[in-house]
Amino acid sequence: MRVLKIGGSVITDKSKRRTPRPDAMARLALEMAGRAGELVLVHGAGSCGHDSAARYGISEGLSAGAETGLFVTHKEVARLCEMLCASLQDAGIPALPLHPLDLAVTADKRISSFNTLPVKACLERGVLPVLHGDVTFDTEQGAAILSGDQLVVHLALELRASDVGLGTEVDGVLGPDGGVIRNITPDMLPQLRSLLEGSAHVDVTGGMLGKVEELCRLARQGVSSTVFNASVDGNVRSFLENQPLGTHIHGDERHG
Ligand SMILES: Nc1ncnc2c1ncn2[C@@H]1O[C@H](COP(=O)(O)OP(=O)(O)OP(=O)(O)O)[C@@H](O)[C@H]1O
Ligand SMILES: [Mg+2]
Repeated sequence: MRVLKIGGSVITDKSKRRTPRPDAMARLALEMAGRAGELVLVHGAGSCGHDSAARYGISEGLSAGAETGLFVTHKEVARLCEMLCASLQDAGIPALPLHPLDLAVTADKRISSFNTLPVKACLERGVLPVLHGDVTFDTEQGAAILSGDQLVVHLALELRASDVGLGTEVDGVLGPDGGVIRNITPDMLPQLRSLLEGSAHVDVTGGMLGKVEELCRLARQGVSSTVFNASVDGNVRSFLENQPLGTHIHGDERHG
C-alpha cells in the first residue's frame, strides 16, 4: 500500500486566490486509474485554503470569533477535495473524500489522535480514500492547521505503507546549484537545514524544508519516500510503477 500526496501547487494556481486547476486534476486521475484499494491519496490546499487560514490566524490558534474562520477555511479545501474526487470518479476510480477535521485532533499542531478506521475501510472495499490538509481542533491552542505533509507521514506509519510519494511543482529537493539532490538520508538533515533555509525560495514558502523534515522522520522509521514533480505528465504513473524519479529519501546510506 502506498500513500501519495499531490501538492496544492499542482492542483491549484498558488498565485491566484481560490483557483483550482481542473485540467491537472483530470490528468492526474487518468494516471491513477486502476489503483483504488492499494493507494491512499492526500492533497494540499494550495490557493484554496491558505489565504483564509492566514486571514483568521488559525495556525496560531482559535481567537474569539475565529470559529467562522474554521468554517470558511474547511469549506474551501473540502470543496477542492470534492472537485478532485469528481475528476477521479470521471476516470472510473471509486474515490471518497475523508476530511481530517472530522477524524483528527492535534496537540500543539501535531496529530494527537486520528481515526484511521474509515481509511482502512476504504482500502478493504477497493475505494480510494482522498484526504487533505485541513483545520483541526487543537487541545493546546484551540485550533490549528494540519498540513498534508504531516498527515502523509502519520498515515504511512499507521497503515504500514510500503512507499510514500510527495508530488509537487518542482523536480525534487533542489541543491544550491538548482540541480535535484537524488538521495537524502536523515544524517544529512543538519546540513540540509542550512542549505534549504539559505535557498532563495524557502523564505517565501518554507514548503520544502518542512517536507524534508517530515520525510526524514519517516525514513528513520524505515519507510522511504520520493519527492517528485507531479506537474509533469506521466510522473505520477511512473511513481506508481516504481520508476526512479526526483529525490529519494531513505534510511539506508548505501541504498540509491
Ligand atoms: N531547495 C528547494 N528545493 C525544492 N523546492 C524548494 C526549495 N526551496 C524552496 N522550495 C519551494 O518549495 C515549493 C514546494 O513546496 P510548497 O509547500 O509550496 O508546495 P506543495 O506542498 O506542493 O503545496 P501545498 O503546501 O499547497 O500542498 C516549491 O514551489 C519551491 O519553490
Ligand atoms: Mg506545502
